[in-house]
Amino acid sequence: MLKASHLISISSLPSWLLSVFGTVLGKSQPISYPIAMAPGLVEPQFRPPHNSTPAQTTKPSSTFGNVHNYLPGRTVVEQYDETYEYEQLRPRFPDVQWPPYETVPYVDKGQLGDPNFKHLLAHATDVFDYNPKIGTEIHGVDLANLTDLQKNDLARLIATRGVVFFRDQKNLGIDEQRKLSQYFGSLHKHATTAVPQREGLEDVHVIYTGENSPDMRALFTPTFLWHSDVTYEVQPPSYTCLKVLTGPPRGGGGDTLWSSQYAAYDMLSAPMQHYLSSLTALHSADLQAQGSRELQRPVRRAPVTTAHPLVRTNPVTGWKSLFFNPGFVTKIVGVPKTESDAVIAFLNEVVATSPELHARFQWRQGDVAFWDNRCTNHSATYGFAPHRRHAVRTAVQAEKPYLDPGSTSQEAELSARHGVPKASKDGSGIVNYND
Ligand code: SIN
Repeated sequence: MLKASHLISISSLPSWLLSVFGTVLGKSQPISYPIAMAPGLVEPQFRPPHNSTPAQTTKPSSTFGNVHNYLPGRTVVEQYDETYEYEQLRPRFPDVQWPPYETVPYVDKGQLGDPNFKHLLAHATDVFDYNPKIGTEIHGVDLANLTDLQKNDLARLIATRGVVFFRDQKNLGIDEQRKLSQYFGSLHKHATTAVPQREGLEDVHVIYTGENSPDMRALFTPTFLWHSDVTYEVQPPSYTCLKVLTGPPRGGGGDTLWSSQYAAYDMLSAPMQHYLSSLTALHSADLQAQGSRELQRPVRRAPVTTAHPLVRTNPVTGWKSLFFNPGFVTKIVGVPKTESDAVIAFLNEVVATSPELHARFQWRQGDVAFWDNRCTNHSATYGFAPHRRHAVRTAVQAEKPYLDPGSTSQEAELSARHGVPKASKDGSGIVNYND
């Protein structure tokens, strides 16, 4: 399995590939590629071949949806006029320098939340989990107009469920999104990714993929795309809020997946939990900074590498989770390299390929996902060209990761509270489940 350090360097790409992907208005430009973050770090620089099949461009008029003009694998491509509604939130890369981060105070508001989330759910019209381990969707809640008690419940629910989804949040403009996130703590300013055109929003991360974006899936391993936000920081984020402003219609792709690190910890054997609990891992921003430099983009803060515990405790739930990040972990500290590589490969597999740990969200415009980076990884998906996908993200700087050896786990608590059976971890038998 490829590791971060094996990722292809842009300068090593064959020049034909660069010229295919890198031509814009007749001018050759370096191809951009993602580094453990969402697709759409850059404006598209690719024109589809002339002979490519045009997508369906007329909107279905039938009151029966698209049943009369359904085309398998084809979706309606939105035609944008000159005045794009979110022009001010398009990406830019300001060439400025920020000092290294200093410690910021953090007290998790989730600790003040009601255990039954009664304030948040008081007027909700529906709430349901995606599966027992991760992901909850709530209807009938307006994120732009929450009381402080509701915000505390929201934090507690996100920490409990890993990720919480809200549909069609019309009132949550960028100012409301920042304000809501700021209630939870200081907003992280990303050193390399795009910020909005509008001045004063440097703590907002812009994700933008244009209509004719290249398909870049071949440039990295799918495992590598799994990540938790900016974990190389000394105080990596707790809550990230992501709102999709413009995106593919239903069926057009661009889903996001989350993977629970509570559940990842719980699926390990007791000896493995014990071993990993004794280790720290290096999380590095170097590759991200290198990628930006190769694109002649500014690196606004010097990249850092930080050692964090490989198992951590969430201060809100008191549950242990794995704290591994396929996108940023480069090394396990204090063990031979062969062993470090094997642990990284093993944890990559656990995080990326265990379906029980995963929740997958199919976005519609205006939808919001709020997740806890301390106990989840997430992965964007590709393959939605030629649709535009534009999203804005805010992330809250949290506590320095720690492990409380006396803390419990999600599985232990669900088992004690609700009698949910614990997963068997004895793999010594032989069975072929396939049919
Ligand atoms: C992210 O990686 O933070 C965003 C994921 C997405 O664009 O779906």
